[in-house]
Amino acid sequence: MKRVSKTIQSSLAIGLMALFGFAQSSFAGEAKEFEGPKPDLKIESANHTFAEKYPLQYNSWKATSESTEVISALEEDPRLVVLWGGYSFSKDYNKPRGHFYAVTDVREILRTGAPTDENSGPQPMACWTCKGPDVARLIAEKGEVGYFDAKWAKYGSEIANSIGCADCHDTTSQEFKDGKAALRVARPHVQRALEAIGWKFDTLDKHGKRAAICANCHVEYYFAKNKNAVTFPWDKGVDVDSIEKYYDEIQFTDWVHSLSKAPMLKAQHPDFETWSLGTHGKNGVTCVDCHMPKVETKDGKVYTDHKIGNPFDNFEHTCKTCHEQSKETLQARVKDHKKKIKDVMVRLEDQIVKAHFEAKAAWDAGATEEEMKEVLQAIRHAQWRWDYSAAGHGGHMHAPDVILHVIGTGLDRAADARARLAAILTKHGVPTPIQFPDISTKEKAQKVMGIDFDKEKKAKEEFLRTIVPEWEKHAREKGLLPADEK
Ligand code: HEC
Ligand code: HEC
Ligand code: HEC
Ligand code: HEC
Repeated sequence: MKRVSKTIQSSLAIGLMALFGFAQSSFAGEAKEFEGPKPDLKIESANHTFAEKYPLQYNSWKATSESTEVISALEEDPRLVVLWGGYSFSKDYNKPRGHFYAVTDVREILRTGAPTDENSGPQPMACWTCKGPDVARLIAEKGEVGYFDAKWAKYGSEIANSIGCADCHDTTSQEFKDGKAALRVARPHVQRALEAIGWKFDTLDKHGKRAAICANCHVEYYFAKNKNAVTFPWDKGVDVDSIEKYYDEIQFTDWVHSLSKAPMLKAQHPDFETWSLGTHGKNGVTCVDCHMPKVETKDGKVYTDHKIGNPFDNFEHTCKTCHEQSKETLQARVKDHKKKIKDVMVRLEDQIVKAHFEAKAAWDAGATEEEMKEVLQAIRHAQWRWDYSAAGHGGHMHAPDVILHVIGTGLDRAADARARLAAILTKHGVPTPIQFPDISTKEKAQKVMGIDFDKEKKAKEEFLRTIVPEWEKHAREKGLLPADEK
């Protein structure tokens, strides 16, 4: 370990304040008052307008387009279709790819449906919130209520730029014009959430600021009942227990499961949370140290590599700046953590899938709400724990010990649900084990869960053929996108 003392030093500021001080504060998670329009706040969101002045940063940012692969998580693991039964995630869910594709991917995913005009479609505006810098610009223009309180298609023509410069930089500041980073968090709900955990952005040191910009999006959040505003459930802390407690206290439910009728929670992607609880987070090693290292051009010019992707692709500038081990050694270690986590994660999935089917069998046999109450709560908690560990995509790297513990406690909750269910089923004369249907492929699982994938797909194609080109035309006319590209 070459750089430990420096690392520890730099970690102190962020470590002490953060970890750390995830103290209770007077800030409620849900906004008491939303921010109105801010006509003086100018946000230049068009990524292409920075290509000429900042070629090194722009070109490396654009290189996130090289991560093209779309992998269906449902095909890889059809259990997910059952786990999310009755919720749109069971229709379509892909693994993440390059930042360049965020806008494309949210348009194409079946979860956003096929709106035919600005007031139709299943989802609210909130679904754009982590897709690009036009979001920050629109919130400044319309105010938070003006932005959040509308259907997803309402401003489809305004959200054209994928995750880019103005998501992380104050692009109209003098500092940025002078070639400095001028990092900024521009989304008001993110500023509020960071304050709630003692991370007031302007008072952070440079390490804190670097991690905080990723917390714009790589976090757990929910759509508050009030205006469907994106809200981070961090008031009690960012670990799995604290967030569960937060949701239980406000009795928040993302959806009711179609089989078990359990009041479910959907975890989003708590990467920031798990990172902060893991070894690197505790030592003040931030996302940027690994995913956006400083690199050098051939003629010795140092700049920040904006191609956010797998840090192992850039080993000399990432892990190697602190660790003495070889790439092979460290990569094998991470791979081993991944394999061990996957192994127990799948066991937890199997247990929860069975619990959903057994709960349905119990309802069908006449179980009462009173009998089922504790079961449903245990299923809710077990699946929350599974999702918290699964939805944070780099968890096996960022905090393997934390993730293993979360899965362990999830297995405990699932065992509790199934033990209670066995008693209820027996009481109602249902022989156990019950028969579980074949869910060995995505197609089979979606059939079991009553999803008409082809119908959804067809409606989506129509939307992509008719509505999206109109959106793009508007965006080009307005200068949000370059006029010349296809
Ligand atoms: C996901 C966040 C993110 C996005 C998107 C992003 N940057 Fe950066 N940028 C950073 C970080 C982090 C640094 C390094 C900050 C530091 O050194 O403290 C940085 C540094 C910079 C710097 C300072 C010089 C340097 O290379 O360190 C410039 C200029 C810059 N970025 C331009 C851009 C431009 C232009 C875009 C859009 C094409 C962009 N950035 C997109 C996060 C981002
Ligand atoms: C404005 C929201 C936003 C910000 C800010 C942001 N991300 Fe992302 N990130 C996303 C979304 C959305 C995706 C998935 C994109 C897709 O699959 O279409 C993603 C994907 C990724 C991936 C997967 C890339 C791949 O090629 O598979 C990594 C790694 C990542 N982000 C790291 C970071 C880091 C590190 C930061 C901070 C420096 C950051 N992100 C800032 C929203 C954001
Ligand atoms: C110590 C280095 C390190 C730090 C710090 C770190 N990451 Fe990572 N991250 C990695 C590595 C390495 C991987 C890929 C693991 C693998 O190869 O399986 C990864 C994976 C990811 C992925 C999943 C990418 C995918 O395609 O599935 C996301 C998203 C991500 N990181 C975001 C973040 C964010 C956000 C932060 C800060 C809150 C962060 N990382 C902090 C090293 C780091
Ligand atoms: C800025 C410095 C820094 C960078 C960059 C960094 N690490 Fe670390 N890493 C540390 C420190 C500090 C520790 C904790 C050492 C301790 O507790 O003794 C650590 C611990 C670890 C551990 C053991 C703890 C665990 O979570 O299992 C592994 C494995 C590891 N790092 C892998 C990586 C990999 C892989 C990368 C690159 C993707 C990376 N590190 C990048 C500083 C760094």
